[in-house]
Amino acid sequence: MQQINGSDYTVYFDTDCYAYLQQLLVAGSYSRIFILSDENTSVHCLPRLLGSLATEIPIELLEIEPGEENKNIDTCIQLWEALTELGADRKSLMINVGGGVLTDMGGFVALTFKRGMDFINVPTTLLAMVDASVGGKTGIDLGSLKNQVGIISNPKAVLIDTAFLETLPVEQMRSGLAEMLKHGLIADRGYWNEFTSMESLTTDDLAALIHRSVEIKNEVVLEDPTEKGLRKILNFGHTLGHAIESYFLESDDKEMLLHGEAIAIGMVLEAHISAAMGMLPVTEYREIKEVINSLYPVVDFTPNDIEVIMSLLVHDKKNEAGEVKFTLLEKTGKAVINKIVENSLIINAFEDYQN
Ligand SMILES: NC(=O)c1ccc[n+]([C@@H]2O[C@H](COP(=O)([O-])OP(=O)(O)OC[C@H]3O[C@@H](n4cnc5c(N)ncnc54)[C@H](O)[C@@H]3O)[C@@H](O)[C@H]2O)c1
Ligand SMILES: [Zn+2]
Repeated sequence: MQQINGSDYTVYFDTDCYAYLQQLLVAGSYSRIFILSDENTSVHCLPRLLGSLATEIPIELLEIEPGEENKNIDTCIQLWEALTELGADRKSLMINVGGGVLTDMGGFVALTFKRGMDFINVPTTLLAMVDASVGGKTGIDLGSLKNQVGIISNPKAVLIDTAFLETLPVEQMRSGLAEMLKHGLIADRGYWNEFTSMESLTTDDLAALIHRSVEIKNEVVLEDPTEKGLRKILNFGHTLGHAIESYFLESDDKEMLLHGEAIAIGMVLEAHISAAMGMLPVTEYREIKEVINSLYPVVDFTPNDIEVIMSLLVHDKKNEAGEVKFTLLEKTGKAVINKIVENSLIINAFEDYQN
């Protein structure tokens, strides 16, 4: 599959990616290679990567505990200390093998260690393949504030080998799928249609869809790397989605929702708002709701849930000057940014979502 060029790095696909990795290792004349994985990717993904790596450069393995709760400064300190003890220098390379938690944090640790060493992302979840490992955002959480500390800077390369998805739990697959549906909704009607008309999905189909998603995200990021404007289209579904995700995370009596599951709900709600504001045709809203609600469990929201979720919107990192701004749909395949939405439209959207 054709490689995709970012501003100063390349995304490689299929098993070809290991041949490019070999070339990068030679070209970079690295002193040492540090491979970062978590307890799950060490078992499921690391052997495949190591088996594809033939090099004389010394390799050191670093492992962290999995999970968003470890995406914090304490884990970074452990990693900076391990790098120091193992003699890492600015000519060392870090290879991040894992999901978005690991690629976000591994990138941040590499970029800040001795003012920056090279890193390569090997995403192993669907979400990391189509979203987290592309676009240069790295960082960690600060307490309950997600991605509060970080840097936008690119890896040397991203290697996407879809064989890693074979061991990924189904709910994690569904979580990543939400970002792919989003790519269609905001930028490519034809791509969205591929999901609506799909009977079953072969491995080759999936690889082609992942490639198209990376292409869409990359096109957006190339035009607006630091999110001054256009890049905000990638936030469709995320204003309400993030608030729902945080609410479910912090409520003891609610089941946790994965990021993509919360975003899927956010997309239905924000599509409803788009229609209510006279942008998205109602027939297109109904199609979006039907497709998404057939793929994701429909969650119940009480009036109190809705109230708390709406109060959380105010804390959204994407807000400017205290104003909540939404990315909405003008039509399937075209998003508009910076829309202010009345509270009553949000309440109506929740009501329609549940009916
Ligand atoms: N940088 C960005 O632009 C960006 C974009 C979207 C999301 N993110 C970040 O990504 C993170 C979420 O990423 P995620 O959904 O990949 O979660 P994750 O990294 O927590 O991975 C999910 C789980 O799957 C396991 N796993 C990973 N690969 C596996 C495999 N091949 N087989 C079996 N198990 C495997 C992991 O160990 C983990 O337990 C969040 O922290 C979010 O902020 C960043
Ligand atoms: Zn997302």
